[in-house]
Amino acid sequence: MSRRRFIKNTILGSMASGVLGQSFKKPSFQNFSGPRIISTWNHGFEANKVAWKNLSSGNGGLTAVELGVRVSEDDPNETSVGLGGLPDRTGKVTLDACIMDKNNDCGSVSFLQNIKNPISVARMVMEKTPHIMLSGKGAYDFAIEQGFKSQNLLTKKSKEAWEKWKKSSDYKPVINIENHDTISMLLIDENQDLFGACTTSGAAWKIHGRVGDSPIIGAGLFLDNDIGAAAATGLGEAVIRTSGSAMVVEVMRQGASPLEACKEIVNRISKIHKNRPEWEYLQVGFIAVNKQGEHAGYSLKKGFNYALHDTKNQKMIDAKYEIE
Ligand code: GLY
Repeated sequence: MSRRRFIKNTILGSMASGVLGQSFKKPSFQNFSGPRIISTWNHGFEANKVAWKNLSSGNGGLTAVELGVRVSEDDPNETSVGLGGLPDRTGKVTLDACIMDKNNDCGSVSFLQNIKNPISVARMVMEKTPHIMLSGKGAYDFAIEQGFKSQNLLTKKSKEAWEKWKKSSDYKPVINIENHDTISMLLIDENQDLFGACTTSGAAWKIHGRVGDSPIIGAGLFLDNDIGAAAATGLGEAVIRTSGSAMVVEVMRQGASPLEACKEIVNRISKIHKNRPEWEYLQVGFIAVNKQGEHAGYSLKKGFNYALHDTKNQKMIDAKYEIE
């Protein structure tokens, strides 16, 4: 072997064994327990049913997660997503969403107004543009061009809630009710391929223009088809500060189970936020699924749950948590 080739091989060998970087344990692909879908919160239950129906009919994982989370976007009684989502402090409903597939293709919209199904606009950004994220008026114009209908998303109920809030104008989101109902859905199909979607109207009474974690790939949602997928719910600022979902996947890459990985990042968020003013109302939760189909949810404070749908189960699971 020439001296030059020897040096090159030695360097490549060192990289593979982790001398120049971190070496990761390769997770096993064995013991796959079948396709499944997990989604945040109670509304995930109905959303999962629609996603499962689409998956079983052969419509593919991407369509399954898109149409699944649209159940929550379409529901006027769901006050944290789509139509009927609680507005910002100026009374405007502004929506964030993102979608991601097994090939790392992804699309996202943020600060989108007057379009009921931001998740479908996010999918079109992914499929019809060279970009990943469109925001505000640009996202709206793109949606209209693609045939989406403009509509008022503020319902009688959400308008009344806003008018009531205005009397005090106190920004202290109520844990597990006002601020923490983002729907995030993760799906592993029969080929062990991963898909995810995340959609929200964001924090109620936020400053006009505020964007949370949900449209940010790596914060609200992330997947690596070799490892697993993760998604978030809760106060977006805390999730963005830690690149939450991407970090959950990276911890799984190091060999952690979905539960251990979610716990690790929630602990990190807890440490960072303990002395911050938002601590008293802070809630974050993650769900994760790995390549074997193992899944988990974990939150900072009690009260987070997620919905599971697989060949044997359709049920809600109470997530473990750090603080009572
Ligand atoms: N996780 C949703 C938000 O903070 O906007």
